[in-house]
Amino acid sequence: MERRDFIRLSVVGVATGVIAPAVSVAESIKLPAAADIYYTKDEPGRWSGKVATHLPNIEIKKTGEEVLVTVVTGHEMKGYEHYIVKHVLLDQNYKFLQEHLFDPTKETTAISTFTLHDYKGPIYALSLCNKHDLWLNGADV
Ligand SMILES: [Fe+2]
Repeated sequence: MERRDFIRLSVVGVATGVIAPAVSVAESIKLPAAADIYYTKDEPGRWSGKVATHLPNIEIKKTGEEVLVTVVTGHEMKGYEHYIVKHVLLDQNYKFLQEHLFDPTKETTAISTFTLHDYKGPIYALSLCNKHDLWLNGADV
């Protein structure tokens, strides 16, 4: 190999290394407590005046081993203009349990009911408004 070819190949090799870096999987990062991903009664963020109409309220009724969970968001259901899109119920590890998707053309209140069997511990409810984002509340069963 002539000196000129060696130099040309070396330049290409360096450039390729710079242009195509090695691919690696990103490590998980620690998630913030709430930030602006979801809002709570104590951390309403930019929606501080919206707590009463957006925080999901959780009612628990136990009958034997059956637990009836009612989630109520005191929000208007003004068609698709302004409404609660869904309620999501999560377990103590924030894992999905059940959800209710609202139809604002048929449902005039944002109330959903869920039935759990033999469940003990904290549960969480998310309520999603189409304009005012996602709200979280919790209760002990
Ligand atoms: Fe709203």
